[in-house]
Amino acid sequence: MFYDTDGRDHGLPHDPFKAIVAPRPIGWISTISEEGHVNLAPYSFFNAVSSRPDLVMFSSEGVKDSVKNVRQTREFVANYASHELADEINMTSAPAPHETNEFEIAGLTEAPCNFVRPPRVAEALAALECKFVQEIELTDINGNSADSFMIIGQVVGVHIDDRAIKDGKFDVSIARPMARLGYRDYHGPAGYFEMTRPDWGGVSGEGSRKS
Ligand SMILES: Cc1cc2nc3c(=O)[nH]c(=O)nc-3n(C[C@H](O)[C@H](O)[C@H](O)COP(=O)(O)O)c2cc1C
Repeated sequence: MFYDTDGRDHGLPHDPFKAIVAPRPIGWISTISEEGHVNLAPYSFFNAVSSRPDLVMFSSEGVKDSVKNVRQTREFVANYASHELADEINMTSAPAPHETNEFEIAGLTEAPCNFVRPPRVAEALAALECKFVQEIELTDINGNSADSFMIIGQVVGVHIDDRAIKDGKFDVSIARPMARLGYRDYHGPAGYFEMTRPDWGGVSGEGSRKS
């Protein structure tokens, strides 16, 4: 089959794009607002985009709380998404109001960082302390705004739980990363699994732009 993305007329029940560009790592992004509200949310439009300096990016569809906070305080933490924390990661994706601290929703522990103000997830096996470098408003081929905002940060400090280091390496067989596929699908150490996004106050966590 072939389809033209202009009309998105793929004839399939759901858009296959994100299932094709998969697996994607998940950046579990913690931020803090200028008033001190802590935020935590998963982003699978996330990746490393350079080393020396170590740069990572995440991209928000719409201006979500993570972007608002980075604009205010110019710092974020990318926490490591292990399969063991799948439920907690999913919980922190609820479309919760700005002042909600998702650490509390998911029963996670805030641990201090060395160079940035947002807390990291104590339970995560690694965390990248990041300082804001650049925001790019993404556009289409005609220059129209995609209403997506890519945040690039420089990694200024790296936390690794000693449990994840074996023979001098950050060992993925111990860290057991979870990756995002398409639809409701994820990939973990035992293969594929599904998770449904949580709702919040009657707002569906599935499918909406805010979601
Ligand atoms: C595994 C996973 C990956 C996600 N990736 C993204 C993403 O890359 N970009 C995005 O805008 N939303 C993404 N979402 C949805 C956000 O996590 C969700 O909208 C969240 O409420 C945003 O939180 P915030 O407003 O506190 O930043 C993802 C959700 C899940 C469960």
